Amino acid sequence: MSRLCITPIATPRSPSLDSRDATVIARELGARGVRFERWDASVPLSAAATQADILAAYAADVARLQATGPYSSCDVVRLAPDPADPEATRARAAAARAKFLAEHTHAEDEVRFFVEGAGLFYLRLGADICMVLCQQGDLLSVPAGTRHWFDMGTAPRFCAIRLFGNPDGWVAAFTGDDIATRFPTFDELAA
Ligand SMILES: [Fe+2]
Repeated sequence: MSRLCITPIATPRSPSLDSRDATVIARELGARGVRFERWDASVPLSAAATQADILAAYAADVARLQATGPYSSCDVVRLAPDPADPEATRARAAAARAKFLAEHTHAEDEVRFFVEGAGLFYLRLGADICMVLCQQGDLLSVPAGTRHWFDMGTAPRFCAIRLFGNPDGWVAAFTGDDIATRFPTFDELAA
């Protein structure tokens, strides 16, 4: 279930708000200039589904999203364990997880529509960190320039459609701040 924890930066494990109510999550994030919506994402995807298959399955949603911003391009990121090769799965998971685990920004909005699984965004907004556990059906748009990081957990399982205007626009610019190390992980918050 989607979850929002808002905690002062100074007290990473003492949230001032902890909600699993999508209406509350959308309202609290909206008040901070962050778009969060619950959409229907119930198309079954086979393990062999290609990026084209997934984009085709959600073509109407992608078109609806593209109409709301300068998001001319889209692609798909999908991670799931491979039971036939646990060692390769672990290595792939660790590499993928490490990529966006430190605080960074992008020059463009980071728009993610989760169509499978879950992932945890951390948004630095003023004196707070908003921890947004996104699950299947959640749409989150991290505004350009927002300091944030993302934890997919030690056993990632998610599929998200990513929208952007310029593929170079959401290259991560790392802030060099180690703030991410002080907050609860995906494995802790998604449990
Ligand atoms: Fe990012």
